Amino acid sequence: MIEIAPSILSADFAYLGEAIHSVESECSWIHVDVMDGHFVPNLTIGAPVVASVRRHTKNYLDCHLMITDPWDYLGDFAKAGADSVSFHFEVGRTFELIKMAHDLGMKAGLAVNPDARFEDYSQYIPHLDLLLVMSVFPGFAGQSFIPAVLDSLRRAKELVAASGANIILEIDGGISLETIGASRLSGADVFVAGSAVFGKPDPAQAIRDLKQAATRASERLK
Ligand code: DX5
Ligand code: ZN
Repeated sequence: MIEIAPSILSADFAYLGEAIHSVESECSWIHVDVMDGHFVPNLTIGAPVVASVRRHTKNYLDCHLMITDPWDYLGDFAKAGADSVSFHFEVGRTFELIKMAHDLGMKAGLAVNPDARFEDYSQYIPHLDLLLVMSVFPGFAGQSFIPAVLDSLRRAKELVAASGANIILEIDGGISLETIGASRLSGADVFVAGSAVFGKPDPAQAIRDLKQAATRASERLK
């Protein structure tokens, strides 16, 4: 599986519908970066925007919750039409959140910061639908990719392969034509891209180029 998940954080919020329609032919996911000004030093959007976006696209809405208290909001995201919610390992209560997401009919993702130790979160991986490995410290689009996270991604890939379960590995932060190949070689299936898609004059073409770079890397794996 190779999927580009364009992050609307880099789109023009005043033209969100148009931004999504401009990429829909090239991808089946949309990544939504929810920030609360506490877990990360930035404020973005929440469930009401997800509900609006839901009315305009059938794409899989992959909601990345960079918030301190996700347990208070999962119900709102479910009602808004989120397909998956990824809460952060750093906020705790992981098993409870996985169960809550599933009970609400959503896929459960765990996001891990670049400094999270694989040994500390690997126990959760078999219970997840997706693992979101952060390749920047969350908070802002347009940061530089941290290559050290590729080691955790490789280890996660081995664990997922050994378990035989269908757990998606997603990488988020600093994905570009330069970094997507190494991310694919380390085991990522879904690549979040903000500035490398919506920061380009032709976002649809940017997705095609990213997909092609990831596919080329996969071919090297054969
Ligand atoms: C960072 C967000 C990312 C970000 C990606 O806190 O979680 O999803 O928007 O943007 P780029 O691709 O520009 O690093
Ligand atoms: Zn994100």
